[in-house]
Amino acid sequence: MSYIAGNTIRTLREKNGITQKELAEIIGVSDKTISKWETNKGLPDIGIIEELAKALRVSLPELFTGDLKTNENVSGNMKKIQFYVCPICGNVITAVGEGHFSCCGITLPKQESESMNLEHSVFIETIDDEYSITMLHPMNKEHYVSFVAYVTSGSVEIVKLYPEQDVFIRFRKKGHGFLYAYCNRHGLFRKNI
Ligand SMILES: [Fe+2]
Repeated sequence: MSYIAGNTIRTLREKNGITQKELAEIIGVSDKTISKWETNKGLPDIGIIEELAKALRVSLPELFTGDLKTNENVSGNMKKIQFYVCPICGNVITAVGEGHFSCCGITLPKQESESMNLEHSVFIETIDDEYSITMLHPMNKEHYVSFVAYVTSGSVEIVKLYPEQDVFIRFRKKGHGFLYAYCNRHGLFRKNI
């Protein structure tokens, strides 16, 4: 199992524009210790790595793998959002980057969305600064829309729905984006808004 590599610490420290002495002061060790870590002559104690990651402005996995994600900013655009739906409990998991997600003991596949069709279409009415969304879709226990989401580049809003409920939702307008509706039988549908 690999631990934190010396050159990862050095690269991150230099990227943050701080000296060994400054980093040492932040996390409360000596600058000689930092020098040892960076030249692979010593390893940071497990009890200190959280502080080290924080000081270097990375996550723990990034510190361990040296695989720096900080410049990719995968979470920058919510329009890249992906939905994962548990077929057993109905849990909805969203992600803006690659990942592996499981629920109720099973690995969830990423939901591929398709364009809304006649059976799965939304009626959008603009009232003042809100979108009023309705759907004429069955809402019984066997076949229903379990959530509707409004996604813009900066935010995601998800409204859970339940059988016997009407699909009637209001979203505050936040600009262009996508509207998603998930049907427990037919999957994920998408429309530009
Ligand atoms: Fe359906």
